[in-house]
Amino acid sequence: IKRIAVLTSGGDSPGMNAAIRAVVRTCAYHEIECFGVYRGYEGLIEGDFEKMTARSVKGIINKGGTFLKSARSKEFRTKEGREKAFAKLVEANIDALVAIGGDGTFTGAMIFNQEFGFPVMGIPGTIDNDIVGTTHTLGFDTALNTVVDAIDKIRDTASSHNRLFFVEVMGRDVGHIALNAGIAGGAEEILIPEEDLGMDRLVDSLNRSRKSGKTSSIVIVAEGDKIGKNIFELKDFVDENLEGYDVRVSVLGHMQRGGAPSCFDRVLASRMGVKAVESLLEGKTNYMVGLLNSKMELTPLEKAIKGKTKINLELLRVSDIMST
Ligand code: F6P
Repeated sequence: IKRIAVLTSGGDSPGMNAAIRAVVRTCAYHEIECFGVYRGYEGLIEGDFEKMTARSVKGIINKGGTFLKSARSKEFRTKEGREKAFAKLVEANIDALVAIGGDGTFTGAMIFNQEFGFPVMGIPGTIDNDIVGTTHTLGFDTALNTVVDAIDKIRDTASSHNRLFFVEVMGRDVGHIALNAGIAGGAEEILIPEEDLGMDRLVDSLNRSRKSGKTSSIVIVAEGDKIGKNIFELKDFVDENLEGYDVRVSVLGHMQRGGAPSCFDRVLASRMGVKAVESLLEGKTNYMVGLLNSKMELTPLEKAIKGKTKINLELLRVSDIMST
């Protein structure tokens, strides 16, 4: 392998820039060429890439987002699109690809590898932490810190006004952000996609805590929580069935995906970039790099995508006990 391309695709996450930097610099260290692909698979299809040197990635380890930009490419989902991308890579004599992103990104990379035998390596970048084969995806730790900071601020105003706040956090299919940030932010209840708490239990629990002397409360709701109501419907239900609280809603939204990556995410991104390039150089392909038991490990892309991350039941119990 003499020339490696790197791209970011799907929803961005803090730490992607640090991972690109690590890929580019590991290539430079091993004296091979590296190409940065703009706008994910879109840019691959259009041949929108350029040579990167160690200096091209200066000053980005601390920046959120991805300077290569990201996209969700419809064309890459078609055989014709992937053929165009392959032709562009062959034309530029590029012989391996590092794809940074989540399950959609890895599905694309895996199919590309199956169709053309093109060497690929995945780096998990998503704030949702919903990839099997790593205890942490890039951006998860930063997003947690962002959410906890927001909850702390909301708590200030909640307690000043004796209010109950419903705070919506990201997580369409998984509750890792909700559960961890909820515990760290001292939430009264945490609603996640994996477990149906039920509206009545929610009202009971809020009632109990009201009677035990709490004057304000925070309920964290993951976007895709299993009760299946949107956060405003939840608010209305609680408004109707619970006396004594003034209820408000706060939807944190995309601010959770931005900001400077945490120290943890910067170190993780650097380790993942080194492991991704060196694994390709060792002839490995169709894997994702991940953090398991404090070590960098490889997991087949297929397993990373198809496996379902499980919510930590111990955390659920801790959250229950803490809201006593
Ligand atoms: O990055 C993952 C995620 O944050 C999900 O939790 C969320 O549902 C989704 O992205 C929203 O992303 P977009 O607005 O880019 O479609």
